[in-house]
Amino acid sequence: MRNIVFIGFMGVGKSTIAYKISKMRRMKIIDTDKEIEKKVGMKVADIFEKHGEEYFRDMETNLLYELQGERNLLISCGGGVVLREKNREIIHNTGTVVLLSASAYTIHNRVSRNDRRPLARGKSRHEISKMLKSRQGFYKESADVIVSINHKTVSMICSEVLRKVEEFNKNVK
Ligand code: S3P
Repeated sequence: MRNIVFIGFMGVGKSTIAYKISKMRRMKIIDTDKEIEKKVGMKVADIFEKHGEEYFRDMETNLLYELQGERNLLISCGGGVVLREKNREIIHNTGTVVLLSASAYTIHNRVSRNDRRPLARGKSRHEISKMLKSRQGFYKESADVIVSINHKTVSMICSEVLRKVEEFNKNVK
C-alpha cells in the first residue's frame, strides 16, 4: 500500500484520523511530532523553547528524508511541515498527501487553550485565522486530496479519506 501523508493546520485531527485508519487498515503510523520528541527526549514545546523553531524544523526535514523510502505508512505531519519547499517536495514523493481542513473557528476552539502547541497557545481567533490564511496556499498546493472535517464524525472523515485516496491512487503509476 502506498503511504498516506496527512497535512493540515494544528488541531484538525491528523493524528486521530491516522490512528483510526491504522487500526482499520493495519498500516503503521508515524506521528512526526512524536518521533521528534523521542529523538530529542523532550516535548515539542520544550524543544521550541530550548533550541528554537529552526532546530525543530531541521529535525522535521531530516525525519521526512528518512521516511521517503518506506511503504505502508500513515504519516501524520506537524502543521508547519508545508512551510519549507524541500518538505513539500519530499512529502509529494513519499505518498498520497491528504489535507484535512477546518474553519478558523473550529481550529481556535480546539487549540487555543492547549499548552502543547507553542505557535497556537493563547492566540485569538483572529490570529489563528491570519496564520491559517498565510499557510493556506502551501496546504492546497501540497494536497493530492482534500477532506474538510467541519461537522463530521471521525468515522465519516476516515471513510471519506479512504475513498478519495483510493480514487486518487487509481491514476498514480
Ligand atoms: C506546528 C504544529 C504542531 C507541531 C509544532 C508546530 C505548526 O503539530 O509540529 O507545534 O507550525 O503548525 P500539530 O499540527 O500536530 O499540532
